[in-house]
Amino acid sequence: MSRTILEVQDLRKHYPVRGGLLNRVAGVIRAVDGVSIAVEEGTTYGIAGESGSGKSTLCMCIARLLEPTSGKLIFEGEDYTKARRGPLKKMRSKIQIVFQNPISSLDPQMSVKRTVLEPAKAQGLIEGDGEQKAKDLLAMVGLPPSALSKYPHELSGGMSQRVAIARSLSVSPSLLILDEPTSALDASVQAQVLNLFNKLQSELGITYVLVSHDLSVIGHMCDRVAVMYAGKVVEAGSFEDVFFSTQHPYTGALLGSAHYLRNAAVESRFLLGGDMPSPRNPPPGCTLNPRCPFATDLCRKSYPPLEEQGGHRVACYHREEVVAALGGSA
Ligand SMILES: Nc1ncnc2c1ncn2[C@@H]1O[C@H](COP(=O)(O)OP(=O)(O)OP(=O)(O)O)[C@@H](O)[C@H]1O
Ligand code: SF4
Ligand SMILES: [Mg+2]
Repeated sequence: MSRTILEVQDLRKHYPVRGGLLNRVAGVIRAVDGVSIAVEEGTTYGIAGESGSGKSTLCMCIARLLEPTSGKLIFEGEDYTKARRGPLKKMRSKIQIVFQNPISSLDPQMSVKRTVLEPAKAQGLIEGDGEQKAKDLLAMVGLPPSALSKYPHELSGGMSQRVAIARSLSVSPSLLILDEPTSALDASVQAQVLNLFNKLQSELGITYVLVSHDLSVIGHMCDRVAVMYAGKVVEAGSFEDVFFSTQHPYTGALLGSAHYLRNAAVESRFLLGGDMPSPRNPPPGCTLNPRCPFATDLCRKSYPPLEEQGGHRVACYHREEVVAALGGSA
């Protein structure tokens, strides 16, 4: 049975908004607002949601590249929310992050060899010139040894992302956070990189947290999924729960816009008007209410609790109506 490798408990990342003559704090942007997830070892946990829903902020907090405002981060049973120096360095060798844009995530002045060895060097893990380790890392991501002497401008998008993945593997991490790792790549290259992630997971047992706005990527890769809206998890559970026993209107809207519901009449019931609310000025009550076809007065007054039933978590006052509406697609 697999164990929980990462626990995110009630995590918040709020940014103060300053304004006025005295530059006082005039408000707050709740980029991540009370997120809790548990990730099992050797699995892939997907995070889905529209632009601005807080996915990258959550990833950066998990990697401790941003300081959370509150909440807890626990990795392999250790609380690292406020870890500094030695413990933080140790944690960084276990949790690595791969970003969306492979070309801008590589230093143009650094050869591929220096790039892939950089994190291991920072951890004091390189003996000698590291040539063999660099070759081994390239082999793991399907690149030839001849790529070692190249510079980022000589690499395609797919090769650059493979180099970024090799760099993150140099410290043998247990957890890789993948923030839209294929969305900047051509469709054919995307499939190759996703297959590479699957291969690395089965060979090395790595755990992934995978962010994607593309539900087909989430569906292809993930064991469990959390759907975020305006800084909060609105629905979470197994891939089957979220994709095939959907209970939140926002998840229904995402699935409908990707034609996962496969029924035009049902999809039309889940059309969302407008945009995500300004994070500086969210509406009262459930933040989805101005766009939600199921909203009632209750939704405009208070935010629904994230209720769990058999591991399936949903924050919606009207989940039964949503399920009934989706039942029409069966
Ligand atoms: N440094 C910052 N200061 C103020 N607000 C910020 C800051 N960083 C992010 N935000 C805001 O926090 C919210 C969440 O941003 P985030 O980048 O995490 O979203 P995302 O889901 O990753 O979006 P995308 O799909 O576009 O990458 C957005 O409203 C964003 O404008
Ligand atoms: S609580 Fe109300 S507004 Fe929010 S998602 Fe559910 S039905 Fe829509
Ligand atoms: Mg992002």
